[in-house]
Amino acid sequence: MTSASAPGKIILFGEHAVVYGRPALAVPVIDVQANATVIENRLGTIRIETPGTGLNADLQALPPNHPLAAVTRAVLGALGIVHPPSFTMRIESTIPVASGLGSGAAVSVAAIRALASFLGCVMPDEKVNTLAFEIEKLHHGTPSGIDNTVVTYAKPVYFLKGCPVETFHPSVPFTIVIGDTGVSASTKESVREVRELWQADPARFEEMFDAVGEIVQKARKAIESGEMMDLGLLMDKNHSILQEMTVSSQLLDRLVDAARSAGALGAKLSGSGRGGNMIALVKPESAQTVAEALVAAGAKRTITTHVG
Ligand code: MEV
Repeated sequence: MTSASAPGKIILFGEHAVVYGRPALAVPVIDVQANATVIENRLGTIRIETPGTGLNADLQALPPNHPLAAVTRAVLGALGIVHPPSFTMRIESTIPVASGLGSGAAVSVAAIRALASFLGCVMPDEKVNTLAFEIEKLHHGTPSGIDNTVVTYAKPVYFLKGCPVETFHPSVPFTIVIGDTGVSASTKESVREVRELWQADPARFEEMFDAVGEIVQKARKAIESGEMMDLGLLMDKNHSILQEMTVSSQLLDRLVDAARSAGALGAKLSGSGRGGNMIALVKPESAQTVAEALVAAGAKRTITTHVG
């Protein structure tokens, strides 16, 4: 039996603009995890089980574009295995689905590592990341690749599409409270709608993407020099631009306002928006107050996580 885990993720700065070649910052969230276990079976077939969603099926019975079928075939293909032993792969995850926390990417990364190791291989991170990106395209259409990258490397990442992976290091640890709207949001839809708006008014959207790119550069400096007040203000600015891109929602805005009123240094939506999660930068001593204010304002749950 082999098993592997992968963390969730949040985007600190730069979502959507990152799809258009601007940089973005993302960090792993180790408080939530996806876990894959692979065990040999005597059924003569490859079985996929996800108890959380009630899936219990033979690989052959799943449609080819089902992410778990695709990930299994991708690993077998990458390792050149034509006649695999029969096995059962079981996936369990505490990462909320369709919420901007990278659930799909984490499931893929955990499955790739557990399966490769079951088949006797240690797959380098770069290869894991490449395979996970292929599966992300099934989930999200035209993703930038940031989710699979931060989940694979499990470190803070400065991400620029098409460039080598760059990790970065906060000079002082900081605390983020994540507020979950509980509203499922499709990244594929949200990315597609932003693309349509960009096509309708490229000049305006390019300007917004440039402004986000500048925020990301400043945010990286603020994180590396421990300037938390600056970082909070940059979050607020990034959120305003995301509102202008139309990817916020009434509930996300309400949670962002509630976090600020409860003492957060800054707050913004995180991920593709429309639902999913928002994040608030807080002093450790105000994490509890901010989390309570988020629940009072309608958050379905909160996660307090530490970066660095
Ligand atoms: C999704 O976590 C972040 C987006 O920027 C899409 C992407 O980068 O693939 C909205």
